Formats: sequence, structure tokens, C-alpha cells
Amino acid sequence: FAKLLPADVLLAWYDRHQRALPWRLTPEAHAAGDRADPYRVWLSEIMLQQTTVKAVKPYFERFVTLWPTVESLAAAGEEPVLREWAGLGYYSRARNLIACARRVATDLGGRFPQTSLELQDLPGIGPYTAAAIAAIAFNERAAVVDGNIERVFSRYFAISAPLPQAKADIREHVLAATPSLRPGDFAQALMDLGATLCTPRSPACALCPLEEGCVARRGGNPTAFPVKAPR
Ligand code: ADE
Repeated sequence: FAKLLPADVLLAWYDRHQRALPWRLTPEAHAAGDRADPYRVWLSEIMLQQTTVKAVKPYFERFVTLWPTVESLAAAGEEPVLREWAGLGYYSRARNLIACARRVATDLGGRFPQTSLELQDLPGIGPYTAAAIAAIAFNERAAVVDGNIERVFSRYFAISAPLPQAKADIREHVLAATPSLRPGDFAQALMDLGATLCTPRSPACALCPLEEGCVARRGGNPTAFPVKAPR
């Protein structure tokens, strides 16, 4: 690509403005050299698959209090886990959660696989979730693309194709821009940017660290992207 979304600028913004979320390390812990706990990263990504950050937070806190490790979750009965899951919806996620915890605890010695490819072999982990876990927990340079990230890239590059077709193009832009240092923070910075500034209806471009290079902003029409397919 002639042009890249600047990861360094985005990461500098993230260091100052990231949302404090219970599955993230605090900036202090990170500075002290702590690494993200793969169990917490996995649990959060499963919960976040079809549920908002706001709704997930209290569930995540309860789960890690009751079951702080993958071994403890694997040893729990189905019933208490399903009971704690109540309200999050999509119960197949909870059943897969238990199955995955048991596989990791019993077959893999309590260690999650460290690549997106291997993570996809586990119950409940599809390509998106595998990429997110691998990037955040294991620093794999995996392209993480969710709805927020699609919106940010559609705008930054003023991608004219409507969304279903634009996906492959967006993916290439995301992969090209993803840094080999801090790929997980890069993905989470894009999620935060999409959730807090580059919002669907009224983006706060004046506060956005990517304003300078954003093609849609330059054209004065950020909300025209992502382009909707005619229906
Ligand atoms: N949605 C999915 N994964 C997320 C994460 N790690 N942080 C914020 N929102 C998310």
C-alpha cells in the first residue's frame, strides 16, 4: 500500500486514553513488565463475541473471582457455570467455554496454544477470536477485524466499496498496518477508537489522533463510510 494507517500514532493515543477494562493490564502493570494472562484474554474475548463491553464487565469480574484459572473453570460443574452465564445469552458459548477449559486443562497441561491457527482448533474459537487472543495474549501479528475496526479503516482510506465486498480489502489494510511490536494493543486501540471517537453517527474527529491522514475526514464526510450496499 502506498499509505499505512500509522500504528505509532495510534499506540501513543492508546497509552493515554485506553479504556480501563478488567481484562486488560493497567498501564502500570504493563510498564512493570507483566504479561496478559491468556486465560483472562480468552474468557473476555468469548464473552465479547456477541455482547457489549458494558454488559460483559460485571460477568467477567464474577467469573474470574469464582474461577481464577483455566483449571478451576475446568473443574467446575456445568450447572454453576451456566447459572453465572445467565443473562449473557447464546448459551452455546457457555457450553463451548466449559469444553474449551477442559481441553486446555486436561490435554494441554493448562496452557493455551499460542498461535491463531492452533487456537482455532478449540471449541468456541473461530478465526476472529483466535486472531484477537493470539495478538493480545501472545503478540502474534494477526489481523484483528471487528465492526469497529472496519469502520475506522473504511473511513481512514475512504473505501468506496460497500461493506461485504470491502472486507478483503480492509483486511489487507489492517494486516499491513499491524505492528510486530504490540499487535494486541494496536487491535485494542482500534476497538477503543471505534467505540469512543470514530463512532457510527457522530465521530469526534477533532479529538482523533488519526485525523491528519483520514481521507474521509479530509473529504468532510466521515459518516458516509462504511458505504452501505444498495438494497
Ligand atoms: N471487543 C472484543 N475484544 C475487545 C477488547 N479486547 N477490548 C475491547 N473491546 C473488545
